[in-house]
Amino acid sequence: MQAEATLCLPAKASGTGRFLGGVLVYKADMMVSSAGVPRSTDGALPERIAVLGGGGFLGSHLTAALLDQGAQVVVLDRSLGKLGRDTTDNPRLRCVAGSVDDGALLETSLDGCDAVVSMTALCNPSLYNTVPQDVIRANFLDLLPLVDLCSRKGCWLVHLSTCEVYGRGDPSAFLREDSTPLVLGPVQSERWSYACAKQLLERWIWAQGIHGTLPFTIVRPFNIIGPRMDYLPGIDGEGVPRVLACFMAALLRQEPLPLVDGGQQRRAFASVRDFCDAMLAILRTPGRCQGQIFNVGNADNDISISELARHMVAVYAERHGGDPTLPCRPVSAQSYYGTGYDDVARRIPDLAYIEARVGWRARISLAEMLPEIVDDYVARYRNRVGSPQVAVTR
Ligand code: UGA
Repeated sequence: MQAEATLCLPAKASGTGRFLGGVLVYKADMMVSSAGVPRSTDGALPERIAVLGGGGFLGSHLTAALLDQGAQVVVLDRSLGKLGRDTTDNPRLRCVAGSVDDGALLETSLDGCDAVVSMTALCNPSLYNTVPQDVIRANFLDLLPLVDLCSRKGCWLVHLSTCEVYGRGDPSAFLREDSTPLVLGPVQSERWSYACAKQLLERWIWAQGIHGTLPFTIVRPFNIIGPRMDYLPGIDGEGVPRVLACFMAALLRQEPLPLVDGGQQRRAFASVRDFCDAMLAILRTPGRCQGQIFNVGNADNDISISELARHMVAVYAERHGGDPTLPCRPVSAQSYYGTGYDDVARRIPDLAYIEARVGWRARISLAEMLPEIVDDYVARYRNRVGSPQVAVTR
């Protein structure tokens, strides 16, 4: 278990009773077990929860999971397209079509909410060096009023940050919330515009919680994947989506999979189902989770991108009759993403802290999750890209 003290308030601050959203609450109000972990009196979900960005990939899954658990949910999003009929028909869901940068709409959307999960983001690496102003605006500037609003209302802000804040540090290290340095590249390397915006927002939220009155939790997801993830280029979006959708686009067309700079980079992928379970565990335990930063991911699913490509070719071939020998196509990062792109060699989450705090750990292996994801893309796009059995272009 990670040392709790490292995420606690500085000693001089404790006892002031000022930091209702921060760790001080643990110290002052909660019983501490012999292991040093506060015993929670938590258990139920907040009654009404706002999910900002609830129409997106992660948001649509989380919204469905919250409704399943009996919560009342308000979704604010520009697009509600990923919410299924089962979800939108639920009488406990209120959908608001709009943007978080509309202050009045944001304020009314949060009315009566005990917690807000903030998930809006521009989180596609191909944008970080091509439209960095949009990226910094969406991931930092647009969200400052939200943080102030939550402070004012005393509404618990559960903010979705990112594993990207760790930057391009030591690939052999497990990344820990309380001790791993956040190492970003130079300003000229615009890949880091996203990580930097997300990091500064984390620091702002942290400061507003520890030195102000904001009840907050920060979550850093690590490469969460699942059904309904990204668009397919040329069909319902343009440019380069994240790797899973890039590979699916190639598989559906039975074209070689684009492998950036050799594909030796590694990622630890986690299932969106595990992600939702982690979020439910956090939302059920404000006493243990407010004032905290948590990694959410699955270290056991650490895999190189070239191995991921091989797995996806095999799963697709087995389930949808594609070519099991479909090759990869080498592409340079420079030509694929343009100037200013940078890559992360590897990032493995240390998950001891969230497990100690709320008892959550990821359970779903890559082998278990890939079939469902592949099937989802095939179901949604098969008829839009033509036959998946077209001849292979080598
Ligand atoms: C992503 C994004 O920054 C965010 O969505 C998020 O914060 C985080 O990581 C996440 O998903 O949790 P990254 O892991 O680089 O960044 O995401 P991908 O675009 O999926 O790329 C993964 C790796 O695959 C990279 O090394 C990339 O160069 C490679 N890649 C990507 C390919 O080899 N081929 C492709 O067609 C696309």
